Amino acid sequence: MKYFNFKKIGLAIVAILVILQFVRPTKNEGLAFTENDISHFDSVPDNVKKILETSCFDCHSNHTVYPWYTNIQPIGLWMQWHVNEGKEELNFSEFKTYKPKRQKHKFEEIIEMVEEQEMPLSSYTLIHSETKLTSEQLNSLVTWAKIEFDKVKVPTE
Ligand code: HEC
Repeated sequence: MKYFNFKKIGLAIVAILVILQFVRPTKNEGLAFTENDISHFDSVPDNVKKILETSCFDCHSNHTVYPWYTNIQPIGLWMQWHVNEGKEELNFSEFKTYKPKRQKHKFEEIIEMVEEQEMPLSSYTLIHSETKLTSEQLNSLVTWAKIEFDKVKVPTE
């Protein structure tokens, strides 16, 4: 008994991949820095700004730098999914528009995610090794987020 026709399955996979190439996800190519970005919320030390730009902005701002291979599907679709998810949770380009309660909570999350090395995503740092945080960068980022966390005053209802 023959269960699999490998030739047919192979052709089907090739056909799907070819069709997928016509899918063009909408890209995240707005401006990273606007009047509402994190640096307009509070001044951000240069070294921290650099870390955010290099290691976080691709998924947490209005501007993603797309490497050439993201034009190949399903890589591009997979990347876009992460960008959309990441931006929805935290967008440094729009940070100033968040309510104080949300801002405070986001700083708390940043401290936690960065300390536990959950961000930037490991699937991402694997390909973009330059975005992986050194222990020094990790400390700078967490120290900054802690200061900002303390600064945000949430009005009591
Ligand atoms: C490759 C994309 C990507 C990069 C780069 C990335 N993130 Fe994320 N981030 C995500 C996604 C997707 C989520 C939402 C799903 C999840 O929590 O895993 C997320 C969630 C978060 C959250 C949780 C927000 C919440 O309220 O739950 C924080 C905080 C965060 N990221 C901070 C960072 C920081 C800081 C950096 C840079 C050091 C960074 N991320 C880099 C994709 C990314």
